[in-house]
Amino acid sequence: MDSYMTACSSIIIACLLAITLQIIFFSPISPNLLQLPPASSASIFTPNNQLQKVIKLGEGLLKDPEDVCVDNMGVLYTATRDGWIKRLHKNGSWENWRMIGGDTLLGITVSRTGDLIVCDTEKGLLKVGEEGVSVLASAYANGDKIRFADDVIEAVDGSLYFSVASTKFGLHEWYLDVLEARPHGQLLKYDPSLNQTSILLDNLCFANGVALSPNQDFLVVCETWKHRCLKYWLKGETKGQTEIFIDNLPGAPDNINLAPDGSFWIALLQLSSSGLEFVHTSKVSKHLVATFPKLIEQVNGVRRKAMVINVAPHGKIIRKFDDPTGKVMSMVTSALEFDDHLYLGSLNSGFIGKLPLKKSIVN
Ligand SMILES: *[C@@H]1O[C@H](CO)[C@@H](O)[C@H](O)[C@H]1NC(C)=O
Ligand SMILES: *[C@@H]1O[C@H](CO)[C@@H](O)[C@H](O)[C@H]1NC(C)=O
Repeated sequence: MDSYMTACSSIIIACLLAITLQIIFFSPISPNLLQLPPASSASIFTPNNQLQKVIKLGEGLLKDPEDVCVDNMGVLYTATRDGWIKRLHKNGSWENWRMIGGDTLLGITVSRTGDLIVCDTEKGLLKVGEEGVSVLASAYANGDKIRFADDVIEAVDGSLYFSVASTKFGLHEWYLDVLEARPHGQLLKYDPSLNQTSILLDNLCFANGVALSPNQDFLVVCETWKHRCLKYWLKGETKGQTEIFIDNLPGAPDNINLAPDGSFWIALLQLSSSGLEFVHTSKVSKHLVATFPKLIEQVNGVRRKAMVINVAPHGKIIRKFDDPTGKVMSMVTSALEFDDHLYLGSLNSGFIGKLPLKKSIVN
């Protein structure tokens, strides 16, 4: 009997080993362990339900509006998951303005000329204006194709600074980049006078939102799964150098926008469901989740919550608004302050959230 049991357990162990090897062999990732910030860091401020108080703009008209921007006439723009650039006029009417196509549009910004600059994860950096749509940057200087452009900002000299989230994984596999937890992100600069794109920073941990400081002496670039944002100096003695702007964030930073008072608004995602954080600390579970994409949805908790923070220029959190249940707003990806209101983009809603800032309780 004993030897029978031993034989059985040997067979079971051999089978499990074979399955594990098979999973690792077919796994699309080569994972590193990832230390998520401790849950306690989320309680720097008590949870509030401020994001449940939003006014819903364009409900039913906007499919997953990831980013928002406002031009100097006060017209609000967003890029939707069905390939449109839509805009909200001051009189409250929405216009389907320009069709780009695909489901690959991310960060947008208004340029000095009034055109829109759009990150298309397939096509590169686009210019969208009254004349239509044109490609500004689709390749690096060496001719390689630029993929997964994520967010963009224009400087006063016309240079465009933009991020590439991952040079290894595409938009629809973004969660594999998180699971792999190896740095494949970049910060790029497009010089319009040369029509050339150069790499400013390489090996970033999912480079996402990009913002310029008020006097444009530094850029802030968000590293999503590293839960931090970096400061990249554009001027002065430290020009070209990088330092940490803020780290140990209570969520994974997505888009960042400069506020009128010189502070920054950062949208934070939750990269793991509660109870499943261990996946990030075990290579075998990472391989397992990456091999069976259905499991990703179980692990990735991004849809359930929403959180935005206001960070002072020196990198201290001033305010935090959240929807801890995701009841009204979930997966908020951007926060833009304009005219005493916060405009909130999301990859899991059919509207843009508008939050009056004056009436909100300031933490
Ligand atoms: C709102 O303003 C836009 C732009 O001026 C105009 O095209 C549109 O017809 C206006 N809509 C309404 C309902 O007044
Ligand atoms: C600029 O470079 C891009 C490649 O990134 C190319 O497609 C485009 O035609 C160039 N534009 C001009 C005006 O030369």
